This record gives sequence, C-alpha cells and structure tokens, in this order.
Amino acid sequence: MSTKLSVNINKIATLRNSRGGNVPDLLKVAIDCERFGTQGITVHPRPDERHIRYKDVIDLKPLINTEFNIEGNPKDQKFVDLVLNVKPTQVTLVPDTTGQLTSDHGWDTITHKEYLKDTISIFNSAGIRTSIFVDPELRMIEGAKEVGTNRIELYTEAYAKQYPSDAEKACAPYILSAKLANELGLGINAGHDLSLENLRYFIQHIPEVLEVSIGHALISDTLYFGLENTIQLYLRQLS
Ligand code: PXP
Repeated sequence: MSTKLSVNINKIATLRNSRGGNVPDLLKVAIDCERFGTQGITVHPRPDERHIRYKDVIDLKPLINTEFNIEGNPKDQKFVDLVLNVKPTQVTLVPDTTGQLTSDHGWDTITHKEYLKDTISIFNSAGIRTSIFVDPELRMIEGAKEVGTNRIELYTEAYAKQYPSDAEKACAPYILSAKLANELGLGINAGHDLSLENLRYFIQHIPEVLEVSIGHALISDTLYFGLENTIQLYLRQLS
C-alpha cells in the first residue's frame, strides 16, 4: 500500500487573505487538488485566522471527497467545536501557540498525558480518527500509545534540515520511532518541510507511513510546475 498524499492548502488561503478578495479561490483549489490525484486535503486553522478561516473549513467539508484532515490546537475551544461540527476523517492535534509562525514542536505526551487522553476520547467518541504531532523520541511515542490516539504524525522538520548533509543520520530517529509505533499498533503519518528533494528517501526507509501532509514546498513548487504537474511529481515520489 502506498503512502497517501494530503495537500495542506493553508498557503492558498494566505495568498488569498493578502488581498482581501477571493483570489485564489480556496474551494476551487481543493477540488482541483483532488481532481489531480491527491488523496487528502489538510487545513490548519489558527485562532487568528491568518491562513485558513473557520468558515473555510465549514465550506470545504461538503466538497471534499478524499480524506479531510484538520490540524490544530485543541486548547482553543473554538477549534474543538469546529472539528466536532465538521466531522473530518481525521483531526491532528498540534501543540502550537497563538501567533506561532508554524508548528515547531511535538506534544510532550508524558506531561500532558491526562489532557491528551481526555481530548482524544472526545474526538474518538465522535467517530473522528485522531493523530497527534510528535517528535521522533521513543518516550513520546510510548506516551502516545498511552493516550489512546489512533495515529501519530512524526514532525519531520529535523529530518528535512539534516537531510542534505547526512540523509542516513537524519532519518535514523524516525526509523526507530516508526518501528516502535508499529509495534504498539499506532498508525504513522508524517509532515513538515517534506519536499520533492527529501520525500522519497523518507518513504523508502519508512514505508509504513500511511500519510504525508505537505504544504509549503508543494505549493511553492506549483509556481514552477503548475498544480497538476506538481501533484503528479509528489505522487511519483510516493509510489
Ligand atoms: N504538519 C503539521 C502539524 C503542520 O503544522 C504543518 C504546517 O502547517 C505541516 C504538517 C505541513 O508542513 P509544510 O507546510 O512544511 O509542508
């Protein structure tokens, strides 16, 4: 089974918001991403709504025919209410703070064990698959198992940073983390700073990855290759 590609369309919303109108049309882009072969759409609404707005998520839901993944921090009650209302395929819980440029750390699944357990059970009871963003640290993966999440999303920024100088070393902690997650029965997703340059190596070494969510590099690549070609290029890295 090949790894699914979920396109994170936050950057499209950022571009739209920079001019106040509806260009580019986020809903059209989501539909076209699916038409061009993506197997999922990811959005990451933040409390300041500087990228995806809460209303975008509601508008997108009936249009998405692939897997809809909503990422965000459940400490924001508005986020929890939105996810329960929209009922996406998957919610990915991320411990980011207000105003943070982008996600830059995974959950401490030990310190926040009780909080995560309670929060995850709310989403699981509503029939929504859960995933939590984690660094590739074995204790955190063990902690993830304890809190009842269906999947983990491995935070791949460290991998992407080290990949050009030492791909093997960059990938090593992720291979160990994925092996443990597999043994514990946790599904594995991955994301952050994955690109046409580093994606194939990651997936070849960790074929258990069920889904990658990619935004920044993929949307940037569309400037050169166009959306349809870019999605094909990413899918080819995963096949
Ligand atoms: N996963 C999470 C939890 C994220 O916050 C982001 C960025 O919004 C991504 C994946 C995608 O990262 P990138 O935009 O670097 O592909």
